[in-house]
Amino acid sequence: MSYLTATGVACANIAFIKYWGNRDDRLRLPSTGSISMNLDSLYARTSLTFDPGLKSDTLDLNGHPTGGRALTRVQAFLDLVRDLAGKPLHARVVSENNFPTGAGIASSAAAFSALSLAATHALGLELSERELSHLARRGSGSACRSIPAGFVEWQAGESDADSYAFSLARPDHWDLVDCIAIVSSQPKPVGSSEGHALAGTSPLQRARLAGAPKRLQACRAAILERDFNALAEVAELDSHLMHAVMMTSLRPLLYWAPASITVMQAVSAWRKDGLPAFYTLDAGPNVHVLCPASAAGQVEALLGALPGVLKVLKAHPGDGARLV
Ligand code: PMV
Repeated sequence: MSYLTATGVACANIAFIKYWGNRDDRLRLPSTGSISMNLDSLYARTSLTFDPGLKSDTLDLNGHPTGGRALTRVQAFLDLVRDLAGKPLHARVVSENNFPTGAGIASSAAAFSALSLAATHALGLELSERELSHLARRGSGSACRSIPAGFVEWQAGESDADSYAFSLARPDHWDLVDCIAIVSSQPKPVGSSEGHALAGTSPLQRARLAGAPKRLQACRAAILERDFNALAEVAELDSHLMHAVMMTSLRPLLYWAPASITVMQAVSAWRKDGLPAFYTLDAGPNVHVLCPASAAGQVEALLGALPGVLKVLKAHPGDGARLV
């Protein structure tokens, strides 16, 4: 009996220009492009073994045998890989991340990016970075951005074939630090797959989408020119726009906690006083506070002293997904 095994590691990422809403939910074709930075110290490690003796896939997530929707999602993703490879084998999947799951820190991005790499390798497929990113997108949209290294853009594309992510700049291009103020480690009540499907019900989504090309351009330029203030301005605007859409969809989604607002207001005040820092939030209450490495010690200490902040995680620009 042969066993086909591989392990992949991939970072989480934080979006400066957000992905929220699909033009095709099944294919995870986004309504807009998005731009993010990989987070080097926050990663998922996913191992899998295809075993001819298995009758169905199994999933162990952070040390717990897991069924339900998480398993169904992994099975559907593995079906794509099995089809590509032409090998109808089931797998045992073991995935762990070193940060809270489902709390707006892109745990599914890291996990599906690592799974794409491990699963294709284990079945003998040699995919290019672009092909891997294209595949990872089907597991979780933002996972396609954790395949390439550093600062990454996901182009919305005209069709399934050209919707994938690529590196705008390597991790050493700009030593930005993401100081993540953890205000809750609870999984979010409404996951992002459900949230994407609601985006179109917000009367604000159309305006958000109309301005996206301009914000993408501003963000791209700010990263390439290492222009912190320009990045701060466009990233905060984009985060507010996404959360405005979330709050006004028909089922309203309010991901913020009181402490999220405390952090946002504090960061705005610090920036007014000359400290280079800005904030952005994904689909959860934890606040990502970005600053140049030279300010990270001060930002970390200030965040840690705010009421409601349980701890602060720090990450620099991270590498792309890799096999171990
Ligand atoms: O990839 P998903 O379906 O988990 O969606 C991610 C959505 C946000 O994190 C809120 C924004 C983004 O671009 O990462």
